[in-house]
Amino acid sequence: MFPLNRNRRLRNSSSMRSLLQEYRLTPDDFITPLFIIEGKQLKEPIPSMPGYFRMSLDLIAEKVITLWKQDLKAVLLFVKVPEGLKDNEGKEALNPDGLMQRAIKTIKDAVPEMIVMTDVALDPYSSFGHDGIVEKGNVLNDPTVAVLSKMALSHAQAGADVVAPSDMMDGRVLAIRKELEAAQFHNTVIMSYSAKYASSFYGPFRDALDSAPGFGDKKTYQMDFANREEALVETQRDIEEGADIVMVKPGLAYLDIIRDLKNSIQTPIAAYQVSGEYAMLKAAAEKGWIDHDQVMLEQLLSFKRAGAQLIATYFAEEAVKHI
Ligand code: PBG
Repeated sequence: MFPLNRNRRLRNSSSMRSLLQEYRLTPDDFITPLFIIEGKQLKEPIPSMPGYFRMSLDLIAEKVITLWKQDLKAVLLFVKVPEGLKDNEGKEALNPDGLMQRAIKTIKDAVPEMIVMTDVALDPYSSFGHDGIVEKGNVLNDPTVAVLSKMALSHAQAGADVVAPSDMMDGRVLAIRKELEAAQFHNTVIMSYSAKYASSFYGPFRDALDSAPGFGDKKTYQMDFANREEALVETQRDIEEGADIVMVKPGLAYLDIIRDLKNSIQTPIAAYQVSGEYAMLKAAAEKGWIDHDQVMLEQLLSFKRAGAQLIATYFAEEAVKHI
């Protein structure tokens, strides 16, 4: 009761505030997404993601050395697949010499300790731009899962530490886990995009990889953003199927979901601050309407407060310069 309690006493100096700070950002919080293309010495700007680039493997090798020096210890790989290699079944995804498989090896050669995480989904490989095999306008579940489990194994064989299924098919975590165990990959981590919403925040990412759905939307597999309780069901099922880390995506508009999960499960939670969130902050800052660095740090810290242990973010490199 006032004046026995004065809340402002504990905010009275910067040292006092620092001593009592509940959450802190460190480089260990971050996963850096990388967009990879074929070619040499290529660094292509992505118009809807200012300051972010698609890079060829030689430049990716240099990039991971820089990231490692900044104490960033995890990268999440996405590849842009040449149009001629796309088909309905995503056959190229299983090519042991495909761009993803070469990227994993290139990064592991450059920085062996770097944690290499890979996106497991068919959309960059799909002639329809969908995360699964299409038949008569439907995205098929079980045939897609069969391809995804082989794709995950192929990433593990190339040296991936973590496979990250982002497709939202049912049963894919169990299928991937069985495939990995059968091939003696007991220590390959599955980071499952377990509560992934059908979101319009993914627009700039689809520009980056040229992976927008050719027809329809992704609402029969990604979650309805009107739903909250369903996120817990999805996530609990993924944990039962063998997920080691679960993920909520997008980030900022879904902090309630992160906190719901944090209150009910013990499995580490990752948040994905997605491309549209990055684009919004960059655009407002370009206009001079907000303080880029301060808003960036405030947003990133909010993920920790909500309960995320890891944050996949396009701001990782910029953020570590300020913490
Ligand atoms: C592919 C995938 C997407 C993202 C990550 N993995 C796009 C989608 O589901 O359409 C989005 C990431 C971002 O927007 O930053 N399955």
